[in-house]
Amino acid sequence: MVTVVSREEKAPLVPFLKWAGGKRWLTASHLALFPSTYERYIEPFLGSGAVFFALNPERGILSDRNADLIETYKAIRDDWKSVEAALKRHHTNHRPEYYYNERDRRRQASHTRAAQFIYMNRTCWNGLYRVNLQGKFNVPIGTKSAVCLDTDDFEATSKALKKAHLMCADFKLAISQARNNDFIFVDPPYTVKHNMNGFVKYNEQIFSWDDQIRLRDALLRAWDRGALISITNADHDSIKDLYKDFPFHQSLSRSSVLAGKPSARAPTTELLIRNWS
Ligand SMILES: C[S@@+](CC[C@H](N)C(=O)[O-])C[C@H]1O[C@@H](n2cnc3c(N)ncnc32)[C@H](O)[C@@H]1O
Repeated sequence: MVTVVSREEKAPLVPFLKWAGGKRWLTASHLALFPSTYERYIEPFLGSGAVFFALNPERGILSDRNADLIETYKAIRDDWKSVEAALKRHHTNHRPEYYYNERDRRRQASHTRAAQFIYMNRTCWNGLYRVNLQGKFNVPIGTKSAVCLDTDDFEATSKALKKAHLMCADFKLAISQARNNDFIFVDPPYTVKHNMNGFVKYNEQIFSWDDQIRLRDALLRAWDRGALISITNADHDSIKDLYKDFPFHQSLSRSSVLAGKPSARAPTTELLIRNWS
């Protein structure tokens, strides 16, 4: 069965997490850059899933190496009502002392752990998930206090997730599943050769230049099997060279929404690489 994405008919879902390198900006202005027909949707670096939720495909494979993130998605897929109820309790109780207590607490049930993850994501400093070298979430409280948001639609989110297979794994496993006419959207941490930029450290592990080469090779093998591929990465000569066998390279402009001071939010460009036109 071929998935036909009709952009007029489907209202795009809003991701419920804020994520470093999140692609909400790309879906808002560049949705036409994704193919309109394909078999399965495969996203090996899921993060907040901005592109997945915007496309809301009929079948897919969603994967990320972050175990807490994938567990949160599974909890919403399987029992969104309990996650929402637990999140509402955090909304009512939110204040600094409660935040720090909750941050250091190990919740047992998957729905309470998922609500805790969303609560921290929405109220921590700069809204960015970050763990220390021991894998412990250690971000101080931020300035935002809204825990439940008007854009939340966990029922629709759960419905969308039920159509996909969720995996916690290295990217290679998800990409190795791609077959003829599957579409892979690839949004890795941005590392460039000779330069460690601000997005390099994810969780307790580093995404190295060797990982970028390993990724490119996995994608070349998927291309051989007939997959359609879109990749976003840094608009940098080393990345253009890495993907020189891919025919379509395009610079996309965006505003750097993660910069701390509004004055530092200069427009910047990112690279979109495709093997299909
Ligand atoms: C740039 S973010 C993806 C953002 C996503 N496109 C969004 O809209 O939110 C990169 C993701 O890659 C994940 N990641 C890092 N190294 C990985 C690896 N080796 N295999 C799979 N996922 C990895 C991180 O946990 C992070 O969620």
